[in-house]
Amino acid sequence: MKIGIIGAGKIGGTLAARLVASGHDVALANSRGPSTLAQVAQDTGARAVGVSEVAIAADAVIVSIPLRALPELDPSHVAGVSVVIDTMNYAPVRRDPRIAELDEGEVESMRVQRLLGRDVVKAFNTINVPSLRDLGRAPGSRNRIALPVAGDSSNSVDVALSLVDAAGFDAVASGPLDQSWRQQPGTPAFCTNLPADDLQLALDQASLADIEAWRSHIATLPPV
Ligand SMILES: NC(=O)c1ccc[n+]([C@@H]2O[C@H](COP(=O)([O-])OP(=O)(O)OC[C@H]3O[C@@H](n4cnc5c(N)ncnc54)[C@H](OP(=O)(O)O)[C@@H]3O)[C@@H](O)[C@H]2O)c1
Repeated sequence: MKIGIIGAGKIGGTLAARLVASGHDVALANSRGPSTLAQVAQDTGARAVGVSEVAIAADAVIVSIPLRALPELDPSHVAGVSVVIDTMNYAPVRRDPRIAELDEGEVESMRVQRLLGRDVVKAFNTINVPSLRDLGRAPGSRNRIALPVAGDSSNSVDVALSLVDAAGFDAVASGPLDQSWRQQPGTPAFCTNLPADDLQLALDQASLADIEAWRSHIATLPPV
């Protein structure tokens, strides 16, 4: 597949390497332009492009930027692509400003969908960088961990499930986007590197109190 990735940082760059390694054609963009991406392009095998070009002819675009930067991303860049995958997490105070709608209970990916003005799928938000880089395994391998994929379009969910598998992880369809709070930071599914059966249980056990507790904690940590 042809994959565009907006955000060439820790997650975008690591995902680019994993997807190139599994045979995908990956284009990477950041906010400063392709001339700043020579090293990451060399390291990952992805092509460096401008953000306005990243979705051209792409089968899917992965948006992996800080949530605070989302209002600066022109939605027209992803308007024409059939699948948009959101990896983003809200880290209040530590990395993001307080966002009133999220603090009042808006589901993080529902906000992304609202600001982009189009449907999105949530995936790759529950794994940290060392695990994404090192824990991918071939399908059927013992100890292969699983990642959840939430969304409303069955076609988009299927594409995201296939990319999770290509990156080296079992893929679990976790339900509609309005239930994707079950994989937000602080929940039992978040950064716990579970196999598929346990991941499903963790999603079922999630509570909104988990998210509140995590946000209170993260806000006390030094800024990143
Ligand atoms: N780090 C993790 O372990 C982890 C795990 C799961 C999910 N996530 C989520 O994934 C997202 C990315 O995290 P990260 O750790 O990879 O961040 P990061 O290392 O800080 O990288 C952010 C990237 O986004 C780009 N960017 C920022 N604003 C942009 C814009 N308006 N248009 C295009 N590109 C833009 C930056 O490019 P410039 O430098 O040119 O601005 C940079 O390449 C976050 O929402 C985070 O919550 C992170």
